[in-house]
Amino acid sequence: MSLFDVPVLPQNDTPKNREERAQALAQQQTRYLYDYPSIVGGLPMAAAPIPVDLSLEWSLQVAGVAIALGENLVSILLPNTLSFDVQIPVVLGQSGFSDRAEAQPRGEVVNPDPEVMQSDPELVERAMELHVFLSEQREKLGKLAARAHAQKSPQPADPLSLVRRPEAGVLPTEPSRVFPAAPLKAPLKAPTTTTGAAAGTEVTDARDIGQWLADLVRGILDFYLSVVGLRGRADDVQQYAAQFRKIPLPPSAGVSQTDEFFAALRVAGPNAMILRRATPADLAAFPVTDERFASVTGEPGATVQEAACAGRIYLVDYAALTKLVPGTDPQPKYVWAPKALFYVPAAGSGRRSLRPLAIQTGQDAQSPIFYPSDDVSWSVAKLVVNIADGNYHELISHLGLTHLLTEPFVLATARQLDPTHPLNLLLTPHFAGTLLINYAAQTSLITPGGPVDLLLSGTSASLNALAASAVQEVRYNQTFLPQALAALGVDSKEALPDYPYRDDALAVWNALHDWVSDYVGFYYESDGDVAGDYELQAWVQELVTAGHIQDIGEGAPGAAARIETVGYLSTLLTQVIFTASAQHAAVNFPQRTIMSYTPALPLAGFAPFPAPAQAPATQVLDVLAPLGESILQQAVLGGLGAVYHTVLGQYGGQFTDLRARAALARFQQRLQAIEEQIHLANGLGERTAYSTLLPSAIPQSINI
Ligand SMILES: [Fe+2]
Repeated sequence: MSLFDVPVLPQNDTPKNREERAQALAQQQTRYLYDYPSIVGGLPMAAAPIPVDLSLEWSLQVAGVAIALGENLVSILLPNTLSFDVQIPVVLGQSGFSDRAEAQPRGEVVNPDPEVMQSDPELVERAMELHVFLSEQREKLGKLAARAHAQKSPQPADPLSLVRRPEAGVLPTEPSRVFPAAPLKAPLKAPTTTTGAAAGTEVTDARDIGQWLADLVRGILDFYLSVVGLRGRADDVQQYAAQFRKIPLPPSAGVSQTDEFFAALRVAGPNAMILRRATPADLAAFPVTDERFASVTGEPGATVQEAACAGRIYLVDYAALTKLVPGTDPQPKYVWAPKALFYVPAAGSGRRSLRPLAIQTGQDAQSPIFYPSDDVSWSVAKLVVNIADGNYHELISHLGLTHLLTEPFVLATARQLDPTHPLNLLLTPHFAGTLLINYAAQTSLITPGGPVDLLLSGTSASLNALAASAVQEVRYNQTFLPQALAALGVDSKEALPDYPYRDDALAVWNALHDWVSDYVGFYYESDGDVAGDYELQAWVQELVTAGHIQDIGEGAPGAAARIETVGYLSTLLTQVIFTASAQHAAVNFPQRTIMSYTPALPLAGFAPFPAPAQAPATQVLDVLAPLGESILQQAVLGGLGAVYHTVLGQYGGQFTDLRARAALARFQQRLQAIEEQIHLANGLGERTAYSTLLPSAIPQSINI
């Protein structure tokens, strides 16, 4: 750092410092190397070993979540022995949509169930071993948490470390706020099948924690994977809810089959970013007659054309899923590439929230079209859309367009912006943990036979190829949120008044833009300063050459990428930070609050679209995942959506420049105001409830 601890652009630095910067970057370039693994379609990833220290705080939180999920599984396998029931009505037709408030468990049942104990002695034996193992791990976790509180972990030297200096009160006294521990009742015998650091050795050194955590998560996940296929199809939708025994049941369970919930997913769900205004071409390919339109909307004389011109008809289109090859693991699965039309009620007709109009189950013009009056077929058609939405969400919106898209920015920043560069200081907190979690994804989650393969609709290869192709198709300059929303035709509050994702995401994006613009302005007084920053120019050029990011920078088409203006630089950095923080939060946390309950957003169909003659009562349950798969979905998505590590705008002592600190204080106040606006908007009940983008619930980086 230069004089007065004010970051300096490289071209303005002293000759001696410029030389030191070059040496530091050369060193970084030996630590952060690119790899192009085939499992993610050759996308740029960090080569192992991943240069990341482990955060004790993060590790303890992940371990707490994993243990709670393991305890839930024990409770499912040994019902009425160790568990308590969670009571929430799962009543079809109930209206409402809430995503944050959770059902509370009620009533403990601790009588051993002899029938269960005798049904599958081997599984019961293993479940008991798991129970003892988990009890030991929870004890270790408690000791580690206590020690962490006492010691206050020091800040590590690695700039990409997950560890940030713990702030007062950050470490939970309980391992997890989300899945609170409940004491198990029955004493069971010692484990016999555990391995590695998690098995019995005392975890006393921070260096052991990584191995302990890896063994712990692997052991619990393996047990979950072994349950897939052991349970058949559900006889009753209540059986899915009954699997939430020691963890909260998402409140959407009670309304997940309603039309209100189906429409709410498009504007406040996990994948609320693909809705677009229907064009004449869309409506020609997916024709709905005026009679049908008037019938569904209850607006006599209304026509589709008039409604479309008024911006009242919207579409979700899952054409991208035609690339998926139906999977067969653990049994034949089905996937569709449907479309769904929605409408906004006419002005003056009360609440103008989105409502479903029609579903077309394929891309083909001859594909069947269903309407809300089609009884059970309509319910199955909604499942078909939600299954597509779940696949699109996990592969494209989540894995592809947040996790994988951010990876090259992490690498280019570490390799091309000196650690004292003002933009390195700004960006690095937003990249904490990303290389590590992406490495974990590619070596565990998305491997053949892994959770994504078992849960989603396609073959493992086609799933990963879809995620990779989505990243390869990105034209970065077209992703800037305000322009992207305008391009989708969903930016008008008058036409589409109830769109909470849009409103909250834009509020955060605008606040970020002001903060970043202030910050950038301190160091770049003119466009010439931008053009002359040779580290920045190397950064953007590496993003293109090694990072394979297309359409980034301000250079002429075909020329080397360059950044020429202060305005463009601020907008670009805003989008990078927004993707790593708010956008990832928008897609990650509904995994627990909505998707962990399989009927709310299934990830695969397990039967073809039912024939009309099939008994209505079984049609939905036949298509839904069997109960073994739903246990895995609950655990994987519930776990991934439960780890909140760091908070947007909380940079600790990152900035020594007093100007930056003053601008940061304004940004933090702005985020607080957005927090209050969101609470107010939800409290007024004039929009679909949406708490996912409360700034306090947005982490700084992609770390889960
Ligand atoms: Fe994630």
